[in-house]
Amino acid sequence: MTGQTHAGARRDYLPAMGRHWLLPLYDPFTRLAGVGRIYRQLLDRAHLTDGADSRRILEIGCGTGNLLTTLGRRRPELATVGIDPDPAALRKARRKAARRGLQIRYEQAFADELPVADASFDRVLSSFMLHHLEEDERLRTLREVRRVLRPGGELHVVDVDGTPSGHNRRHQHPRVAGSRPELVLAALREAGLAEVAENGRHQARFGGYVFYRATRPDGEPA
Ligand SMILES: C[S@@+](CC[C@H](N)C(=O)[O-])C[C@H]1O[C@@H](n2cnc3c(N)ncnc32)[C@H](O)[C@@H]1O
Repeated sequence: MTGQTHAGARRDYLPAMGRHWLLPLYDPFTRLAGVGRIYRQLLDRAHLTDGADSRRILEIGCGTGNLLTTLGRRRPELATVGIDPDPAALRKARRKAARRGLQIRYEQAFADELPVADASFDRVLSSFMLHHLEEDERLRTLREVRRVLRPGGELHVVDVDGTPSGHNRRHQHPRVAGSRPELVLAALREAGLAEVAENGRHQARFGGYVFYRATRPDGEPA
């Protein structure tokens, strides 16, 4: 999931499969890799109660919309928004939602410049996206997440485990190396998020992955 960056509307970003022309392979790849199970695990952790305090959901780096489609099938009444800089991925995401009759709003945007109001979301979700960001962009993104969460709102993340292991130690991509859990946890804290914690670590066919959670400190002015 790493490779060249590609020019978006105004700036570069790393697309889902590392190269733009590989996007058609993304959904077959995630299906084969069994990523659907990981989406369900992330949603199970996201503490989506029936109450009014977990209704507004934002996914940053939504790609082709697989996580929000899974969520929409479970909880069609939630107000869900997905953002991604990749227009081709967003087209696929919108088509999926339309086919299933789901009301999901998809917008083209970068995660460190979210086109949404302060404190306007109860949950922010992020799935296999943080390792697409350089370190400084990741910190700006996490500060932006803090801005758009309401006080007490929660961020739930799953991302690749950048812990070096024997076979990848020498050839690890720098962005994956930046995804070592201790570095992700430090970035979450540096962004001013509270109750920062690792929320589980697992091994899949394509490698290890880690869940994280954090909240916008409660009692802060919105
Ligand atoms: C591996 S894909 C994951 C997509 C989706 N979350 C999923 O789990 O299927 C990573 C996504 O992050 C997006 N991305 C890369 N840089 C980004 C940025 N600066 N802001 C928001 N999204 C970004 C890519 O376009 C891509 O769709």
